[in-house]
Amino acid sequence: MLIVPGSQGLLGVKLSRLTGFNLGYVQLEKLQSGEKYVRISQVDRESIVVNSLAFNPDEMIVESTLIAETLKEYGAERVYAVFPYMPYSRKRLIKGEAYPAKVMLRFFSSFDRIYVVDYHLSPEELEKLKGPEIVNVSAMEKLAEVAKGLKADNPIVISPDEEGVRWASRFANSLGVEHSYLTKIRVDAENVVIASKPPEVEGRDVFIVDDMISAGSTVIQAVRVLKKAGCGKVYVFATHVLAKAETLRRIYEVGVEEIYGTDTVPSPVSKVSVSDVIAKAIKG
Ligand code: R5P
Repeated sequence: MLIVPGSQGLLGVKLSRLTGFNLGYVQLEKLQSGEKYVRISQVDRESIVVNSLAFNPDEMIVESTLIAETLKEYGAERVYAVFPYMPYSRKRLIKGEAYPAKVMLRFFSSFDRIYVVDYHLSPEELEKLKGPEIVNVSAMEKLAEVAKGLKADNPIVISPDEEGVRWASRFANSLGVEHSYLTKIRVDAENVVIASKPPEVEGRDVFIVDDMISAGSTVIQAVRVLKKAGCGKVYVFATHVLAKAETLRRIYEVGVEEIYGTDTVPSPVSKVSVSDVIAKAIKG
């Protein structure tokens, strides 16, 4: 197996070290026209493209596809991808909106298998769509390890919305504590409203758990509601922290003790590495 990192594929180096698979090199240039120049120097029967699609997803998707198709032309029988954060995975909320996950999976037909961490698309939705095999691994056990080290008082794990219960419950089970959730109404991409009464949190420390923090309003509104209900300290755990520094500042300002993200996305709070979890999945 050959690991081929794209221009945002730093994780490929860690994965090569952890799996013992060789690290390939690709010449990548951005032409003045805005197009991508790709030239591979090695190929293996099974090759794996590693790239981050977190920022600059459109360009990275085209780049990764060019690498995959070139590897196949030069002899790779199977090409896999590691895209730790899978963009375009939000569901359609209102009529007329694009359903990007469906389109993306069609784009990814160059790949025989894609490794993803905490894929936002639900397994039920994924099953309805055509596309490559998806291996979805989770960062929740790694994040829960961090929580184990915190001196939390009678902690409760809370998902800020119903959709996130699949991550919160996994985190809570790993930690051996109770979990609950809030009900969220999304107003638009930047704004949400918490519509439910919070569970009994008075005097208890809270671990808010979600797959991602993007605009930050989900976490901010959840913290406000929980603080109003008299909870103790609040810690936030999320696999993919896509939020800007300014957004992180606003999250701390509403009274969060600490935010813990993973290295699926580079950010100032990406303190937990999931490279070993991905490496284990690749090695089978
Ligand atoms: C559900 O919508 C997700 O799991 C996250 O809760 C959300 O996408 C991130 O929200 P925000 O953009 O408000 O940070």
